[in-house]
Amino acid sequence: MPKTKKRLGLLTGGGDCPGLNAVIRAVVKTAENEYGMEVVGFMDGYEGLVENRYRTIDMKDVPGLLSQGGTILGTSNRADPFRFPVLQGDDYVYLDRSNETVLNFESLGLDGLIAIGGDGTMAASSQLAAKGLRIVGVPKTIDNDLLGTDQTFGFDSALQTAVEAIDKIHTTAQSHHRVMIVEVMGRYAGWIALGAGLAGGGDIILLPEFPYDLDPICEQIKLRKSQGKNFSIMVVGEGAKPAGGEMTVSRLIKNSPDAIRLGGVSHRIAAQLEALLKLECRVTILGHLLRGGAPSAYDRLLATRYGVEAVHHAARGQYGRMVALRDNEITSVPISEVAGKYRRVTPDHPWIKTAQAVGVCLGVPQDMPLEEYLAVLHK
Ligand code: F6P
Repeated sequence: MPKTKKRLGLLTGGGDCPGLNAVIRAVVKTAENEYGMEVVGFMDGYEGLVENRYRTIDMKDVPGLLSQGGTILGTSNRADPFRFPVLQGDDYVYLDRSNETVLNFESLGLDGLIAIGGDGTMAASSQLAAKGLRIVGVPKTIDNDLLGTDQTFGFDSALQTAVEAIDKIHTTAQSHHRVMIVEVMGRYAGWIALGAGLAGGGDIILLPEFPYDLDPICEQIKLRKSQGKNFSIMVVGEGAKPAGGEMTVSRLIKNSPDAIRLGGVSHRIAAQLEALLKLECRVTILGHLLRGGAPSAYDRLLATRYGVEAVHHAARGQYGRMVALRDNEITSVPISEVAGKYRRVTPDHPWIKTAQAVGVCLGVPQDMPLEEYLAVLHK
C-alpha cells in the first residue's frame, strides 16, 4: 500500500456493543478533517491484524454509522496474537503470532493503531505495546468492568435495553402475581444488573460481587405480599452465585482466552423459590439482546468523544494509553495499568447505597452491614 499521508490502523475487538461504529466514524472524521490522515481498518479485531486482513475506511464509509449497532469491521473475542487459536483436527493449538502482527503493522506503514475493545483487547494491546506497537486504546463493553475509566461506551445502551425489557416484564408480573426474574449479562461484574435493576424498579437485585442468601430474598417477597404487592421483580447478573457456591457456567468455549460463558443461574433460583414460597416464578434471560441495536444518545456522545481523543493522542504521539472518562472529562491512562484487570461493584458504591435506601433486597442479610457479611463469607 503506497503511502502519501500519515496512516492510522483501527480495529474493534472483543464482544460487540452499541457505539462501535460511532467510534469508527469519529476516528475517520477527525483523522481526515483535523490531520489529513488516512485510516486502515482491520477485520475482526486482532484476527485481521494477525492475518493481514484490512480495508481502508474513509468519508464515504461513515454516513449513517453514528446510529448503527454492531461494527462494520467485524470483531472476534478469540484472537489473541500471543495465543492465537488454530484448528488442528478436532482441537485447537495455540501459536504465538505476535511477531507477524508487528511485521504487518510496520509493513503497512502505520503511524499508530487505535484498538477499540474490552479487557481482552487491552491485555493484548499492552503486550503488543511492549513489543513496540504504537497503540491507543478505546474502552468498550456493555459490562462496564474496565479499570481506569468511569464508564465504557455500550453500557448505557445495554441499560436502556434492559430497562425497556424490565418495564414490560413488570406489567405481566402484576397481572399474574408472579415472581419474575430477569437475568442480564455482565460477566463477573454486576453493573448492568445494578443499573438496570435500579432504573427498572427491581425489588431484588443479585450481583456477582455479593453472593446471595435465599432467606432475605424470601423475606422480601413475603414482605411485599403482606403489603398487598402480589408480584416481585428480580434482576440477576449472570455471574450471581449463592453464598458458598459457584457461578453457573452455561458453556465453555475452548478457543477463547476466557473460556467461561455464564448464564442460567436464574433457573436455579426460580426452582428454589417456587419450592420454598409456593409461588409461580418465570425467568427471562436477556442475553445478547443487550449487545444489539442502536446506541443510546449518551453512548453516541461518549463514543464520539473517545474516538476524537484517540486520534488526538495518536497525532501527538501519545501511545501506550487508553482514553478514559474521569469526572466527565476525557483523559487517558497507561494501558499497562488497566490491562487484565476488572472494575467491579463495591459495597460502598453510591448505587449500592441508593439501592439500600429505596429498600431493594440485594440477597444479603438486612441486619448486617454488607462489608461485614462479605468479610464473614471470605473468611
Ligand atoms: O463481555 C461482554 C459479554 O456480552 C458478557 O456480558 C457476556 O458474558 C459475554 O460477553 C458473552 O460472550 P459471547 O458473545 O462469546 O457469548
